[in-house]
Amino acid sequence: MACDPGRVLIFDTTLRDGEQSPGASLNLEEKLAIAQQLARLGVDIIEAGFPFASAGDFNAVQRIAASVGSPEGPVICGLARAAAVDIKACADAVAPAARRRIHTFIATSDIHLEHKLRKSRSEVLAITAEMVEYARSLVDDVEFSCEDAGRSDPEFMYQVIAAAIEAGATTINIPDTVGYATPAEFGDLIAGIDAHVPNINQAVISVHGHNDLGLAVANFLEAVKNGARQLECTINGIGERAGNASLEELVMALHVRRSYFNPFLGRPAESVEPLTGVRTEEITKTSRLVSNLTGMVVQPNKAIVGANAFAHESGIHQDGVLKNRLTYEIIDARTVGLSDNRISLGKLSGRSAFRARLEELGYNLERQDLDDAFSRFKELADRKREITDRDLEAIVSEQVQQNDEAIYTLKRVQVSCGTGLQPTATVSLITADGAELTEAAIGTGPVDAVCQALNHLAQVPNELVEFSIKSVTEGIDAMGDVTIRLRHQGVLYSGHAADTDIVVAAAQAFVNALNRLLAGSHSQPLHPQKTPLPQLGELPLHQRPRV
Ligand code: KIV
Ligand code: ZN
Repeated sequence: MACDPGRVLIFDTTLRDGEQSPGASLNLEEKLAIAQQLARLGVDIIEAGFPFASAGDFNAVQRIAASVGSPEGPVICGLARAAAVDIKACADAVAPAARRRIHTFIATSDIHLEHKLRKSRSEVLAITAEMVEYARSLVDDVEFSCEDAGRSDPEFMYQVIAAAIEAGATTINIPDTVGYATPAEFGDLIAGIDAHVPNINQAVISVHGHNDLGLAVANFLEAVKNGARQLECTINGIGERAGNASLEELVMALHVRRSYFNPFLGRPAESVEPLTGVRTEEITKTSRLVSNLTGMVVQPNKAIVGANAFAHESGIHQDGVLKNRLTYEIIDARTVGLSDNRISLGKLSGRSAFRARLEELGYNLERQDLDDAFSRFKELADRKREITDRDLEAIVSEQVQQNDEAIYTLKRVQVSCGTGLQPTATVSLITADGAELTEAAIGTGPVDAVCQALNHLAQVPNELVEFSIKSVTEGIDAMGDVTIRLRHQGVLYSGHAADTDIVVAAAQAFVNALNRLLAGSHSQPLHPQKTPLPQLGELPLHQRPRV
């Protein structure tokens, strides 16, 4: 991929590294919705998944490549370990995209070589050259990563990088896999690569990093100053453990402080040209979509997208902002699309107005989904006077979550509770083959009673590890937004739903989480970094790529 040295490419890995966060797994519809929104956001590359992980992952990458990978759209990338079977599966999955990339990786730190790969440095060097060359025989755009670069011997890494570029890698990615580096060190690492790898000018230098010490974004900004031109990040910073570098923080730092960064990219300090191709006004919507669908709640004080990021509580601050916003604000909330929460529709709005507003918001639902979302809207309009864009987003994200393969559909929920009463719930579910099941249970409160009744029906052991509720908008008639996480055999599954009745929202969120649990408990996808490199011929049939 040709890279303008005065621009920073944004590589989004929400659907790959982000989805590796515990409990963040997404179904096909959800992945497609996020990929479409990432394209609207204007990211340069979407890492859509790890195709070799499972048939479902392969299918999702292929569908994203087909529907989002248009010639004007982002590059669609898949991850592959440095193994021929992974690389072949990846090439097949990204094939429908007009612009496609294989991202292959192998660890370069001694600790990984000794304990994980059990390979020598010369073996890693040979595998790198062979696998990059193989990937390059399948696609023109190949990214190579030195996993655990942050703890690797730089001299050895220079050799590996030179070999990867020699074999055809067009992007070299430097991951701080365990979030160990500090900003000055990470900047020096990138400067060292730039100075010591003889053929580095034939590739784009990329960085990838985890937030274990809360330094990922700072590390990336130092890397940009030292020559990195691609940043691998996720929406809301979701990802393994403490997460990945957060896309919105990076993009807004490069935007707000561009006069500081411009000279490092060879531009005059006063240049107002954007440093990334991201449409910042899409940030808030993207953040909400990812949070709703993954069940990963955004902390209120999170930079750029937290609920408090633009709130001024203190009287002194409010006074200053009223006199001149610049006294306490470095970002106009509209720049990230925040203040756009207008009242969009009401009780009398028809189907075409509903569809038109959804399209303006960037959602193109298929006919059946549109019909279902419209009837949800009508029900809501009967109960809530004004329907805002936030309400519409909540309806749509819930629609996307209730996928066609759902094992259970919530038909009815009824509770009785109050002073002196034992909270009791009766729930009815419809199974995939159309049968109706009903159960009643008592609990410590109405939500507990609903969950008990649903558990009696589904009969899968699970532990409720998170229940959170927040209101979608202000006002007494606001919808309650519920996120639930269930643990089953050590794996987390999340569910999300919104309704003006919080008990109904809780029941629906619980059913959504149960459906994910039931779909996911049959097969756990392979983890790209924690599964040993396969040897051809050793793979069980079900793990061979669908070629
Ligand atoms: O953190 C990491 O090292 C990764 C690689 C696979 C790029 O996610
Ligand atoms: Zn990672």
